[in-house]
Amino acid sequence: MRMLKVMFFWLFCLSVCHGYRLLGLFPYHGQSHFVMFEQLMKGLARKGHQVDVVSTFPLKKPYPNYNDIVKLTPPIVLVNNMSFEFMQFVFGMNPVHAIATVGGNDICLNLENPAIQELARNPPRDPPYDAVLIEVLSAHCFGIFAHLWNVPLIGVSTTSLYPWLPPLIAQPENLAFVPNNCLSFTGRMNFWQRVYNTMHTVYNKLYFNYLTKVQDEIIRKHFGSDMPSVREMESKVALILINSYMALNRIQPKTPAAIDVGGLHIQDEGLTLRPDVKKWINDSKDGFVYFSFGSMVMIETFPRKFLNILYASLGKIAPVRVLMKIPSPEKLPPGLPENVYTSPWMQQIKILKHSKIRAFITHGGLMGTQEAIAYGVPMIGIPLYADQFMNIDACVARNITVKLDINKMTENDMDAALNAVLWDPIYKESARNLSQRFLDRPMNALDTAIYWIEYVIKYGSDALRSPAMDLTWWQLSLVDVFAFLLLCITIIIIVVVFIVRFLLKMITGNDHSSLHSKKKN
Ligand SMILES: *[C@@H]1O[C@H](CO)[C@@H](O)[C@H](O)[C@H]1NC(C)=O
Ligand SMILES: *[C@@H]1O[C@H](CO)[C@@H](O)[C@H](O)[C@H]1NC(C)=O
Ligand SMILES: *[C@@H]1O[C@H](CO)[C@@H](O)[C@H](O)[C@H]1NC(C)=O
Ligand SMILES: *[C@@H]1O[C@H](CO)[C@@H](O)[C@H](O)[C@H]1NC(C)=O
Repeated sequence: MRMLKVMFFWLFCLSVCHGYRLLGLFPYHGQSHFVMFEQLMKGLARKGHQVDVVSTFPLKKPYPNYNDIVKLTPPIVLVNNMSFEFMQFVFGMNPVHAIATVGGNDICLNLENPAIQELARNPPRDPPYDAVLIEVLSAHCFGIFAHLWNVPLIGVSTTSLYPWLPPLIAQPENLAFVPNNCLSFTGRMNFWQRVYNTMHTVYNKLYFNYLTKVQDEIIRKHFGSDMPSVREMESKVALILINSYMALNRIQPKTPAAIDVGGLHIQDEGLTLRPDVKKWINDSKDGFVYFSFGSMVMIETFPRKFLNILYASLGKIAPVRVLMKIPSPEKLPPGLPENVYTSPWMQQIKILKHSKIRAFITHGGLMGTQEAIAYGVPMIGIPLYADQFMNIDACVARNITVKLDINKMTENDMDAALNAVLWDPIYKESARNLSQRFLDRPMNALDTAIYWIEYVIKYGSDALRSPAMDLTWWQLSLVDVFAFLLLCITIIIIVVVFIVRFLLKMITGNDHSSLHSKKKN
């Protein structure tokens, strides 16, 4: 009987499993990052690949071909647990410092987890892994797995590349027209902005590399002193899947190993709205506004002054309704207007996709703004921390968003913002146009990602490797060539000057001698 089962499995397999076995190492505990990894790994699983995942977000429901091989415990639960005060404290830090330590070095300490050690030393062999996927952000020590097993290392970035990431694949940087993604430059940069952009980028890189150097020791402590440094491991990255796309981000040259898959996480497979939310939406005859500050922030802990403004302004837009995502609605002060419905968890994509939605009030997280753009929903942006200011500025520049400052906004500002996005057609129309441009591509984001992952597995880690990887920075920017040419020109000028002076001397010398001879005569 068992024999038969095994035989049947193999027969079945011969027909459908031409897939690879992939390991996704995503130990960072930020939910908004994992959304992208989850959709990528599920997409690979649907394609017939066998995926194993290491993360702090094991799936709640089993998914075919998807296995949570190691479940990590997060150091702190962030989902629905970020108060206003905690938010101000955490994001008061220098962002590069926070990313390098909290998002990087601390995450690398997971390498001493016995389950991770066991996986590294005794990986499954039936079949073995064909490639390893890691998040490229800061915990690049996890590249050790690809090194140990000698398989391609694939990077995934949940934002456009941070300043220290382009060198991993020799992605051209072009600081003259591509702003550092930590800065809010949206238009063309003037001279001083270019100076600032260059200095800031150099500083960010040096500081990041300095802070993350301790990962060398973490790796060598757990895997032996002959292991490569974290910088060497970074240079082994075969390709980076980047959550950006030219319709939203800037036009810039891309090396083939930099693959744009902006919006990959926007998948509505298997999502359903809760019946009460569904009914409430269906009953909103004049449409509704969706309000969410993302997966972590607790709106109920915000200052009373801010909540009062919300209550007053949102009440005024009735009969338009408001759907508010809020972790503990019972902690809100009394007086919530009648047209506001609250719920601790929402299927955001289903809501943004709904035909009755009129606008989205958001903190400007990248994932949420991309979802709104994909479905053509105009926004009111109230950025709170990190890249949100920049994301909102970019949306404002495209006429799809009104921006408000949480520390200064008044009831009038909120009223004006709501009136604009609800009644001024430019916002809706611009949003619809941008949606069309964002989705118009030769191949959708998920299929693009899968295609290139399969490509490097088929043709090897070096298939997309730029020859620029073997040059130093001064060779790449032609400093040596220009220095040499300058030297040549200098030598030529010196030689010419010398010859001219020599000739002049000869002529004037002759004149002298002829004068002399004349005098003598
Ligand atoms: C929630 O956040 C607080 C910090 O604001 C932290 O002390 C607490 O441990 C967190 N809760 C969990 C379950 O991690
Ligand atoms: C949705 O609303 C329409 C009227 O606008 C009503 O006829 C229909 O029964 C409602 N459907 C649900 C599922 O509530
Ligand atoms: C935004 O609107 C302004 C004024 O209506 C217009 O001049 C500008 O070109 C628009 N920008 C975009 C990106 O459509
Ligand atoms: C949207 O696109 C259409 C067609 O390309 C164009 O005519 C219209 O001006 C655009 N609207 C805005 C607000 O940019």
